[in-house]
Amino acid sequence: MPDAIVAEGLVKKYGKLVALDGLDLSVPEGTVTALLGPNGAGKTTTVRVFTTLLIPDSGRATVAGVDVLKDPQLLRARIGASGQYAAVDEYLTGFENLEMVGRLYHMGTQPSKDRARELLERFRLADAADRPVKGYSGGMRRRLDLAGALVANPPVLFLDEPTTGLDPRARQDLWDVIEELVAGGTTLLLTTQYMEEADRLADSIAVIDHGNVIAEGTADQLKAMVGGDRIELVVDHVDSLAIAQRALEGLARGEIRLEPSLRRIIVPVSDGSQALVDAIGQLAKHEVVIHDVGLRRPSLDDVFLSLTGHEADELINGAKSAEPSTGGNR
Ligand SMILES: Nc1ncnc2c1ncn2[C@@H]1O[C@H](COP(=O)(O)OP(=O)(O)OP(=O)(O)O)[C@@H](O)[C@H]1O
Ligand SMILES: [Mg+2]
Repeated sequence: MPDAIVAEGLVKKYGKLVALDGLDLSVPEGTVTALLGPNGAGKTTTVRVFTTLLIPDSGRATVAGVDVLKDPQLLRARIGASGQYAAVDEYLTGFENLEMVGRLYHMGTQPSKDRARELLERFRLADAADRPVKGYSGGMRRRLDLAGALVANPPVLFLDEPTTGLDPRARQDLWDVIEELVAGGTTLLLTTQYMEEADRLADSIAVIDHGNVIAEGTADQLKAMVGGDRIELVVDHVDSLAIAQRALEGLARGEIRLEPSLRRIIVPVSDGSQALVDAIGQLAKHEVVIHDVGLRRPSLDDVFLSLTGHEADELINGAKSAEPSTGGNR
């Protein structure tokens, strides 16, 4: 399969700050890649380069075979994009916003109107279709912006944090729409701070931090990278942690992690269920009282933590909600 989206050695600096540090990426046609990374990792910067909104200092980027620097106009005609903050016209209605996008893409009057109505229905905005966007909630604007990216049925889509600020139902709706599009052959690059989203939608996940891809693979491959199962134990007293750590060292297949504030100890193990039995036996022998115990399969959160040193929770807590339009980034 040819690559629909390719970046080679992208560099973008803002003064001394290196936003992209030689980023490489490729997305095969008809697949979904998720850029997963914490605040400031360079996700939006990457998307802005691909969507011709930002010129890199060096490196190369092509979309659908078109170089972003050589023919930005042609490239724009082949892509759909939705920015991190909804870029919609406040004074037009939802319907007028989408119809306008259709006309910008030279779709013709009637097809533009039909497509606008169809998408408004699809994104549960039909009731609000003829009201000015000024009165829309943040989530409604977000949905309208996403609908805008789909108007022209572009073969390649860029969605920057498409579900941030959406309620669970709207998020589910969008996931369904995305799955249909991809089944129809659309190539998608999306950014997200939600592990669950990357896990659910992406064929490939590129973990980015400090302007570089630091790991790439399927969700399963990434999980395998951080090792196998882990046992999590909560002990009765923080002083018991050190005893527990010594008692469990023999079972650990990697570094044991202590979380003193939670009185928790996390032990990477190979054979999960056997190790669990052994661990409980060991702790009983050392007279450590266990308050809670569980066997955990690695999640993408674990991948994230081990790769970046950031807790995934920090990510989600740091996630911003969709905010009113702050300027055009479609
Ligand atoms: N216009 C700008 N001027 C100066 N610095 C910028 C500008 N845009 C981005 N940066 C910096 O570049 C880095 C990457 O920013 P970017 O917006 O790409 O991150 P992100 O991964 O999208 O983060 P978030 O999850 O917060 O959306 C950050 O350190 C940011 O502060
Ligand atoms: Mg961003």
